[in-house]
Amino acid sequence: MAVFSPAGVLLLSVLGLAACALGRPNPLSWDGHWPTTSPVHSEHHVKDTDTSATYHQHVQRASRRYSRVLGSSVEKRFNQAVIENAVSHLQETQANASAPVNLLILDESNNPNPEGSGFSPIGLEIALVQPVIRAEQPRQPNSIGLDIQANDIGYIATVQIGTPPKNFSLFVDSGSSDLWVGHEECKGYDVGDCGAHTFLGNSSTTFNNTGDPWHIRYGAGFVLGKIVTDLVSIAGLQLKAPHKFGVAMEESPEFASSKVPYDGFLGTAKSHLSQQHAPTLIEALRNEGLVKEGIVSYHIPRALDTMKAGVPVKNVGELTLGAMNPAKFNASTLVTVRNVSPTGFWEAPVDEVRVNGTSIGLARRSAILDTGSTLLVAPKVDVSAIHMLIPGSLYTGTRWIIPCTTNATISLVISGQEFPIDSRDLLFLPLNMGRLKGYCWSSISEMQGVSKPKGTNIGKTGGKTTSWLVGDVFLKNVYFSTNLDRDTISIARLAEQPDLAASEATELEDKAAN
Ligand SMILES: *[C@@H]1O[C@H](CO)[C@@H](O)[C@H](O)[C@H]1NC(C)=O
Ligand SMILES: *[C@@H]1O[C@H](CO)[C@@H](O)[C@H](O)[C@H]1NC(C)=O
Ligand SMILES: *[C@@H]1O[C@H](CO)[C@@H](O)[C@H](O)[C@H]1NC(C)=O
Ligand SMILES: *[C@@H]1O[C@H](CO)[C@@H](O)[C@H](O)[C@H]1NC(C)=O
Ligand SMILES: *[C@@H]1O[C@H](CO)[C@@H](O)[C@H](O)[C@H]1NC(C)=O
Ligand SMILES: *[C@@H]1O[C@H](CO)[C@@H](O)[C@H](O)[C@H]1NC(C)=O
Ligand SMILES: *[C@@H]1O[C@H](CO)[C@@H](O)[C@H](O)[C@H]1NC(C)=O
Repeated sequence: MAVFSPAGVLLLSVLGLAACALGRPNPLSWDGHWPTTSPVHSEHHVKDTDTSATYHQHVQRASRRYSRVLGSSVEKRFNQAVIENAVSHLQETQANASAPVNLLILDESNNPNPEGSGFSPIGLEIALVQPVIRAEQPRQPNSIGLDIQANDIGYIATVQIGTPPKNFSLFVDSGSSDLWVGHEECKGYDVGDCGAHTFLGNSSTTFNNTGDPWHIRYGAGFVLGKIVTDLVSIAGLQLKAPHKFGVAMEESPEFASSKVPYDGFLGTAKSHLSQQHAPTLIEALRNEGLVKEGIVSYHIPRALDTMKAGVPVKNVGELTLGAMNPAKFNASTLVTVRNVSPTGFWEAPVDEVRVNGTSIGLARRSAILDTGSTLLVAPKVDVSAIHMLIPGSLYTGTRWIIPCTTNATISLVISGQEFPIDSRDLLFLPLNMGRLKGYCWSSISEMQGVSKPKGTNIGKTGGKTTSWLVGDVFLKNVYFSTNLDRDTISIARLAEQPDLAASEATELEDKAAN
């Protein structure tokens, strides 16, 4: 979610000076419109000087999720001596950029790759305009499109609930297991209502409120409400029995704001994590035999891929139920591994991590695959080890910055197969929006200190500090699929340029029509 963070205001004035002086960058060839087949609705809610604050929000949000995975004692479990050594080494040998104000006067003259293309101007425009980039309805059966929230902040799918059915836009979250939407009488937690969203309640003739209380807290925001039942359908698959899920009677501003482009959540982790103590939607579909196996498969799209050479192309994001879509991935790269999470996440063992093809000696890590996190968050030592091999990277005391022109490739090796992260995905945002070839916030962040969230039972059994929270930074680069029945995760490299394949198909159809 892109939301305001009061903490971020501290740095705003510092970075704001430079950004204001340079003016807002030109959107270049992009006219601000995607084609009518991919309607965009946009909300201006990232201040155009605010990259530090925005980055901070995402790091905090992912860190809170991560702390829940690991349990409360995460700091104690780290080997403090190792961390302090690594960090003091870095601070001695690299430029002193520990104070935020220094970020303005960073020496960019020793950029190891000045010829690199830098942060995409279109990417910056997407980050500023915050559009929802709509996906096309996929041709694959039992599939729905994944709309992109702004600069790959999150992904949204449409589900039908109630009688008569209404469309609800749901944030797709493989890191939680609850389905919820706002109730017709929903109130904002501090003040007001729950914004311009679609709500559920008595206007649905099949709505049944059990009256049982329910609540959930995320990395950012929380909702309180009731357990209800109603008819649900997704991708044309209509559950016969009323499905049990949640309605929010009270929402924190992270969800109640009209600027939030979704009406609720679709949790696709396992029901162990359900705060509603209910089968997840995919379990219900499998239990009714609407899908043969409890499989959910994802092609997480990249906002930058919806533009090619300044021309809008399709958002090919897709969620498929009960199967994988073989057109989406390169079958010779497909691996299937056992889910190693004891608590209900989807967690794949990682054999090793490579930077630019060189193993960095981080063996036996594991990746919690979380579509609901924008970033990749890992223990400080691991994150340091990665960045030390990215030429030109700097540590600012808590956060890593890297040259926006980097062409370093970080890859995760899973079951012997290497899965590289596109170097564009390593760039969260430029520090200074006037310097797209300057420094960028790294999309790979160490966990920031957060207090243990109250009122959650997630992660009580504790995790390992070898677990990483692996969000969309990585997931945009692969096709992945989770299987409840076998408790396995499948990952493959994406098929080459599926969007071009789609537009070629359209051209062929056009030719046939002529
Ligand atoms: C590094 O920056 C900090 C904060 O501005 C300052 O206190 C410290 O003296 C600097 N160290 C060096 C070696 O320049
Ligand atoms: C990365 O950039 C360096 C320096 O410009 C260049 O020599 C190298 O070929 C690039 N590597 C890749 C994989 O693009
Ligand atoms: C739900 O969305 C679909 C696809 O955009 C549309 O065809 C349908 O009319 C919508 N249904 C309602 C009730 O708005
Ligand atoms: C909604 O329905 C419930 C149960 O049928 C009822 O108790 C409640 O008063 C209704 N609320 C409204 C606003 O009609
Ligand atoms: C609502 O749910 C309760 C408990 O499951 C059930 O007894 C009741 O018949 C349901 N009411 C309707 C209108 O479906
Ligand atoms: C699939 O991946 C393999 C291994 O990386 C590669 O050799 C092959 O060219 C790829 N096939 C396609 C169709 O992209
Ligand atoms: C990656 O490796 C290539 C080939 O060895 C080299 O030219 C390039 O500079 C390296 N890039 C980084 C970012 O280390």
